[in-house]
Amino acid sequence: MTAQITALVDPNVSATSRRLAWLAAAPDGHPLGSAYLWIPTAGGVADLEIHVHPAERRAGIGTQLLHAAIDAAAVAEPALLGILTQPVEEGSPGDHFCAAAGLRRVLRLTYTRLALDSTRLALDSTRSAAGSLGHGAPEAVRAVPGYRLVHWEGRVPDDLAETYVRARRAMDDMPMDDATYIPPVWDVPRLQAVADAVARRNEILLVTAVLTTGDAMTADDAMAADDAMTADGGKAADGGKAADGGKAGGGGEMVAFTELVVRGDGTGDGQHYGTGVLPEHRGHGLARWMKADQIARTRARFPRLAGLLADTADSNTAMRRINESLGYQPTHRSLLYQHDLHPSPDASR
Ligand SMILES: CC(C)(COP(=O)(O)OP(=O)(O)OC[C@H]1O[C@@H](n2cnc3c(N)ncnc32)[C@H](O)[C@@H]1OP(=O)(O)O)[C@@H](O)C(=O)NCCC(=O)NCCS
Repeated sequence: MTAQITALVDPNVSATSRRLAWLAAAPDGHPLGSAYLWIPTAGGVADLEIHVHPAERRAGIGTQLLHAAIDAAAVAEPALLGILTQPVEEGSPGDHFCAAAGLRRVLRLTYTRLALDSTRLALDSTRSAAGSLGHGAPEAVRAVPGYRLVHWEGRVPDDLAETYVRARRAMDDMPMDDATYIPPVWDVPRLQAVADAVARRNEILLVTAVLTTGDAMTADDAMAADDAMTADGGKAADGGKAADGGKAGGGGEMVAFTELVVRGDGTGDGQHYGTGVLPEHRGHGLARWMKADQIARTRARFPRLAGLLADTADSNTAMRRINESLGYQPTHRSLLYQHDLHPSPDASR
């Protein structure tokens, strides 16, 4: 079928990207499918999403929408390097479609889920002095001396904003395999724009971060803090100071953070966003500590939440092991495909 492809005027423009949109319609005008392309202001790679109504598939409409997006991308932003698809589940129509279109498969993601009912049992049992749990449960998670946790919801508190901007580079070297990835340049307005975008969707952005304390904790302090974290399902490891909305109180530099997004009504599954530890602070257990604490807090704050979802690159061994140790179970695998607008000599791998 030859669909009528109409480029729409999309008001979705932000400081960091703008969106192009297309509607595919039948000759009688009824809609068949749509495509969206997010073009980053800073150049790099645009994100593509195509949907064709299930009743209209295998008629060439997806292909027409893809070509419309590819043709427009190069014109809209000549410096653009490529187009990256949304994650498509392995073996799904999207996977077959991307492969048939000759797109380059660049990244494999495994989705994992933590069922929060089982977490209650697992985290409660971390109180056991043994330090390690039975089959299928996460190991006990200790506070790390010399660091403390802070938490906030939505926009980053003013007194943490600058150090959070500096900590964002912790994500710059995340494994992206063969995908073209240009790390974003962060500043406070960008951080706020992300938080505001989440809020506009009626969702809640929850961040747990690690700050340096400047004075190393004793082993007893660490154990007491660990006990506080695991015993009450969410008490802050710094004795509760951070529960005031994230006051840095006493300063300290942010060296790690983990973001989670939960629906406004606190139901369904929460979705993990970024987790990063600055390279010079890796290997001390900070990621596991802040994630375990975030899980406990989230469970206490949103008792109706069913689970937590994470998507992790298969090649990101460190993150996969951390999530596994906290009890996350694989659900499915997805793939990202890329179309190169300026193919490089090694892009055909
Ligand atoms: C992926 C999607 C956009 C394809 O739309 P479509 O209009 O059915 O795609 P086309 O008809 O243009 O298919 C082109 C080719 O892709 C391949 N293909 C598409 N769907 C397929 C399927 N379910 N199984 C096997 N091959 C498939 C075929 O080679 C097809 O050519 P053929 O029909 O001549 O054999 C549609 O299935 C969809 O909306 N899926 C959900 C969203 C999604 O995954 N989007 C990913 C793209 S970013």
